[in-house]
Amino acid sequence: MKTLKFVSVVGARPNFMKIAPFLRAIRNSNESEVGKSCRIESILVHTGQHYDDRMSKTFLETLQIPKIDYSMGIGSGSHAWQVGQTMIEFEKILEAEKPDWVVVVGDVNATCACSITAKKAGIKVAHIESGLRSFDLGMPEEINRMVTDRLSDLLLTTDEFADKNLRREGVREESIVQVGNIMIDTLEHELKAARELSLSEIIQENYLSTEITGVPRKELPQPMGEYCLITMHRPSNVDSPEILDPIIDFIIDEVAAEFPVIMPLHPRTRKNLQGTSSWGKLMSCANFHPLEPVGYREMLKLNLEASVMLTDSGGLQEECCVLGTPCLTLRENTERPVTLVENGGVSILAGNQVDRIRMAYQELRKIAPKPYRPKHWDGKSAERIVQSMIQAS
Ligand code: UD1
Repeated sequence: MKTLKFVSVVGARPNFMKIAPFLRAIRNSNESEVGKSCRIESILVHTGQHYDDRMSKTFLETLQIPKIDYSMGIGSGSHAWQVGQTMIEFEKILEAEKPDWVVVVGDVNATCACSITAKKAGIKVAHIESGLRSFDLGMPEEINRMVTDRLSDLLLTTDEFADKNLRREGVREESIVQVGNIMIDTLEHELKAARELSLSEIIQENYLSTEITGVPRKELPQPMGEYCLITMHRPSNVDSPEILDPIIDFIIDEVAAEFPVIMPLHPRTRKNLQGTSSWGKLMSCANFHPLEPVGYREMLKLNLEASVMLTDSGGLQEECCVLGTPCLTLRENTERPVTLVENGGVSILAGNQVDRIRMAYQELRKIAPKPYRPKHWDGKSAERIVQSMIQAS
């Protein structure tokens, strides 16, 4: 009987939704007929880029991610520091474990750091969510994607756009496998539980405390009715006040003027806003409801019930696509073109300048909710991934 050892890596919040179905598919494979001829030993490594309970632990628990074998505890720091520390610690794990494959997901610093370390140690790399390109090297994630894909042995892609990007870069055809979107495996798995949650309980339980907001908690409409859901965390949107302040004014004057706005605040965004005049304006806006970062199911429920989404997150863009929530993408470009209106989805690119955001928002308000599932976004991507890894071994 053949035995394969996979070391899988997670580091930041968006990684957990991508690794959970993969680990489940490994267990299923081991328990099936395939497991009689090929057993997979699975080791899970958490680099610790995200460490707050709300950014990490909650997700591990809800998504039933089994025990972490190695916690590196890297934490916050500059990019070079995070990547460097991760490489140093990951090398020790590879020396101890000597796996057949290192499996990395997405485009965070852990993805790039661990793929470089693995290749230097002569270990094969499989990249889940390969081939996405924003063509914007100002984004740290784009650098992570390019480096990881250049080094990967198996490039597991979400859609035809990703395949084309890889072919254009000269990747060998036999290394590219279109498996669909593994995030949608998690969405399918969690949808029922999310639907059963109470919207008002989610909002009440995650409402930012008055100690942090500095104002008394605001009344929510009963029932909630229509609302807009917003998330922002990209450095290009939230790191400079010249960009962020006008967006905040737009949210207050033009979105919250129409209906309630629910916004779970990413730690980066909160840090940058707290103590500024924009923070004061947001907190005193009666229709603006700030939340702590929420769990996976809670976000899914908030998305299911929202009338519109404003976001700079790639994952939420994809979830809006499948759920049909009209989505204004607060970015100049996207590595996920399949979600755009012109390609069948419900997302409009709006950049981060208010004149354009306003026009795009008016367009968005005319779009009816319309779920769209690109090929293979069917909840079975993880199964395909495990099969292709066994075949490629
Ligand atoms: C990272 C990813 C990004 C992903 C995002 C999702 C990279 C290059 N970026 O960005 O692709 O979309 O995660 O959230 O890998 N912080 C906390 N608690 C935590 C984690 C972070 O307070 O648990 C703080 C850090 O101190 C830091 C800030 O949040 O100041 C940003 O964290 P960082 O890991 O640098 O990147 P993200 O912006 O979260």
